[in-house]
Amino acid sequence: MLECPRCKKLYNPDPHKFACNKCGELLDAKIILDRVRPSWNDRFERRIHVWRYRDLLPEIDNENIVTLYEGGTPLIKLSGSNVYVKFEGLNPTGSFKDRGMTVGVSIAKSIRVKTIIVASTGNTAASAAAYSARAGIECLVVLPKGGVAKGKLVQAILHGAKIVEVEGSFDKALDIVITTVVNSKVKGLAYPLNSFNVWRLEGQKTLAYEVFEEIGIPDWVIVPVGNAGNIYAIWKGFKELYELGLCNKLPKMIGVQAEGASPIASAWIRGLNIPLFTDNPKTVASAIRIGKPVNWYRAWRAVSESGGFFTIVNDDEIIKAQKILGKEGISVEPASASSMAAYLRLINEGVIDRKDLTILVATGHGLKDPDIILKDFQTMSVKNIDELVNTVINLNST
Ligand SMILES: Cc1ncc(COP(=O)(O)O)c(C=O)c1O
Ligand SMILES: [Zn+2]
Repeated sequence: MLECPRCKKLYNPDPHKFACNKCGELLDAKIILDRVRPSWNDRFERRIHVWRYRDLLPEIDNENIVTLYEGGTPLIKLSGSNVYVKFEGLNPTGSFKDRGMTVGVSIAKSIRVKTIIVASTGNTAASAAAYSARAGIECLVVLPKGGVAKGKLVQAILHGAKIVEVEGSFDKALDIVITTVVNSKVKGLAYPLNSFNVWRLEGQKTLAYEVFEEIGIPDWVIVPVGNAGNIYAIWKGFKELYELGLCNKLPKMIGVQAEGASPIASAWIRGLNIPLFTDNPKTVASAIRIGKPVNWYRAWRAVSESGGFFTIVNDDEIIKAQKILGKEGISVEPASASSMAAYLRLINEGVIDRKDLTILVATGHGLKDPDIILKDFQTMSVKNIDELVNTVINLNST
């Protein structure tokens, strides 16, 4: 079923329905858990990826499932801590978007969609392009001109997406997708797979199931927030485990936004109850450079319900955190380092205790945004073998 989180009106599942007729709010997907009661044991037989949790996902026939074996990403414990990084950069296209895209594109295939359309800061474009290619569906991506990291653009091109660039921010691109396609009088012009498409969020919730299977329920889950779909999806996953009676506690969710692109977090910190939308979001973390998050309402509710909060980190903290994770062997893009940046700050402020079991969601891979890493890096030069030997001796003595 689909349910309006504001006025509680219920609707039958419908791939083309995203918002409530009565009040306009984005709809949630509601599983009637009594009907599911899955046996958690037989699930252990299955390969660890999104479709392992098929009984908790929308019903789709086998022949329409479009998968690249997404999910099943590593949970990496940071040295000497009780902190685990859920490394979503190891999904097939290098970000958590694949978890949602496998579900969204499978639905698109099952309803015989001809063209998929997305607005994107880059990762959604890469993922939509790859899954559309696999499904044999055309893919059109609408990008903010100059606002997408090189690696992501390369992926969209490689997978054969058609690319349109628009002047302005991601919000402008999304607005164009909504006005030209979702609100178009021409029915079925293209199928939108941005995160207002609730079926995509259903796939993304499986991150919570994987964490639960591996280490149980954490105290805190820290998630980078842009359009604000993922934090809601992850919370929904944990809540379903709770409602199924598989656990008796829930984590507190922390949503992180970058200074300069923090419409939700800055409103939260000021004690308001609606976001402070911004027309000109700015941050080095291009994946979360979003001024008007469409999923703000469901994310806000998820975070409040969990007893967590939203917080802000600045670009310097993000870059520093990216380097710290790099030294742990984990390569993340700047947006994804914001969860580590927030963790470091919150430990310092005493909000999180070092003993607390904490998950940092590392949403996307570092290779996607190479320019930032190369910006202030210099190689060493040696003139002869002796200098190279000396360099090694110096390294050995550090
Ligand atoms: C790497 C990365 N992190 C975080 C986000 C934010 O996710 P959401 O828009 O669901 O809040 C995005 C979205 O584009 C992303 O690409
Ligand atoms: Zn409603």
